[in-house]
Amino acid sequence: MSRPIVVLGSGGHAKVVIATARAMGRDVLACLDGNPARHGESILGVPIPGDFSLASSYPDAEFILAIGDNATRAKLADSLDLPWATLIHPAACVETDLPIGEGTVIFAGAIVQPDTRIGRHAILNTACSIDHDGVVGDFAHLAPGVHLSGNVTVGKRVLLGVGSCGKPGVSIAAGIIVGAGAAVVNHLTEPGTYVGVPARLRLGTS
Ligand SMILES: CC(C)(COP(=O)(O)OP(=O)(O)OC[C@H]1O[C@@H](n2cnc3c(N)ncnc32)[C@H](O)[C@@H]1OP(=O)(O)O)[C@@H](O)C(=O)NCCC(=O)NCCS
Repeated sequence: MSRPIVVLGSGGHAKVVIATARAMGRDVLACLDGNPARHGESILGVPIPGDFSLASSYPDAEFILAIGDNATRAKLADSLDLPWATLIHPAACVETDLPIGEGTVIFAGAIVQPDTRIGRHAILNTACSIDHDGVVGDFAHLAPGVHLSGNVTVGKRVLLGVGSCGKPGVSIAAGIIVGAGAAVVNHLTEPGTYVGVPARLRLGTS
């Protein structure tokens, strides 16, 4: 029998994480959240009893970070010594036997093709697609509807905004933000935020 799940975070992203875990037949016991204003509330029928210090109250559970911000998710993952779950919605189409790191979530409608490698605590959001030989680094986030063609490399902590896309073979360096709807047609190496078609560095951003 699969171990129950405890979700760290209780925002909108947590709702989709809960739905994904339940679709896999996993019980969701609690959401833990650092914001005291949320304590005593619930989302989707899951109680929010307190903050992350309660994690030890769930010795049989696996944990999942439901925090969209990549830097915050990375910091928490590296500071909390917990057994992390990996969640793949049954309505995602993920090639079998791919290396997928702990803590990663793959939502409904996502497609991941052969010889792709996915790192730790990545988010493959609703209906994104990664074609053959893709690489997704630790703590990266592909927002809903992102489409990457073959041989695209996404660095650690990259955010690909909703509906953005990547031409075959491009690489996107660690920490870069690609805006909603942007088309990545060249390698992106300089840190910063890229927007538009083709995606260009937006000056004045970090
Ligand atoms: C690119 C992005 C990060 C910029 O955010 P921001 O720094 O807060 O920028 P602002 O909203 O203040 O907009 C600044 C300017 O950039 C423009 N802009 C913002 N996003 C843009 C985009 N995706 N494409 C083109 N232009 C964009 C704005 O129109 C604005 O232009 P103006 O100064 O001429 O009015 C953000 O707009 C974005 O696209 N984020 C993706 C979010 C996402 O998909 N998250 C996943 C959730 S699951």
